[in-house]
Amino acid sequence: MPLELRSFRPADETALLTICLQTGDAGKDASKTFRSPTLLGEYFATPYAAYDPTLCLMLTDESGPCGYVLGAVDTAAFVQWFNTEWLPRLQAQHAGAILRMDTPDTWLYELIKRPAKVPACAADYPAHLHIDLLPRAQGRGWGRRMIEAWLGMAGQRGARGFHLGVSPANAGALAFYHRLGLQPLDAQPGVVFLGGRLPWGQMNRPQRERA
Ligand SMILES: CC(C)(COP(=O)(O)OP(=O)(O)OC[C@H]1O[C@@H](n2cnc3c(N)ncnc32)[C@H](O)[C@@H]1OP(=O)(O)O)[C@@H](O)C(=O)NCCC(=O)NCCS
Repeated sequence: MPLELRSFRPADETALLTICLQTGDAGKDASKTFRSPTLLGEYFATPYAAYDPTLCLMLTDESGPCGYVLGAVDTAAFVQWFNTEWLPRLQAQHAGAILRMDTPDTWLYELIKRPAKVPACAADYPAHLHIDLLPRAQGRGWGRRMIEAWLGMAGQRGARGFHLGVSPANAGALAFYHRLGLQPLDAQPGVVFLGGRLPWGQMNRPQRERA
C-alpha cells in the first residue's frame, strides 16, 4: 500500500501520542526521555485534534499511521481554549509527577504548570502548526507535501500568515524548513520561530526552486 495523506479519525488519537513521542527529542525518539508515554503528545498533538480535527492530517502506510500535520488557524483563540478547556485536565492527571522535579523531562512538567502563552510573532503570523513523521516515512517528500496541504487549508480559512516553533538542536527540521522557504521570525531560549505569509505558494519558495 502506498503512503496516503488523509483526514484525522478519532481512532488515530493513540497514533498521535506515539508519533509525537517517537520524534520528540529534537526529531529523534524520546521514549526513554519521558516518564509519561503520553504527556508530550497530550500537550503538542492531541489538543489540536480535539480543538479542530479538520486541521489534522494523517500520513499512513501499510503498518498504519506514520506521520501527522496539525495546528490552529487562530493561535490566540486556540491558546485561550487550551488554557481553559484542556490544560486543567492535564495538570490534574499529572499532578503527582509535577512534585518530582529531578529528571530530563522536568521542563515538560514545568511547562504544564502555567498557562500557555501566545508568541509575539502570532500577531502577524496567526496560524501555527506541528509536523512529525516517523523515520520510515521521512526523506520521501511527504513532509513538504503535508506542510503545503496544511498551509493550503489555513490560507483558505483566511489566515494571512503562519509560524511554528522548532528546537535549535533539531538540525534536520531547521534544514527542512529552510529548504521550504520559511523565514526566521523570532527566537527564545530553546525555541526558534519560523514562518511565512499566506497564501503559501511558488513565490514563497527559495529563488532557485521556482519554475
Ligand atoms: C522534519 C520532517 C518534517 C521533514 O519531512 P521529510 O518528509 O523528511 O522531508 P521531505 O522529504 O519532504 O524534504 C523536503 C525537502 O527538505 C529537505 N530536507 C528534509 N530533511 C532534511 C535534512 N535533515 N537535512 C537537509 N535537508 C532536508 C529535503 O532534501 C527536501 O529537499 P528537496 O525538496 O529540494 O528535495 C521529518 O523529517 C520529521 O518529521 N522529522 C522528525 C520530527 C521533527 O523533527 N519534526 C519537526 C519538529 S519542529
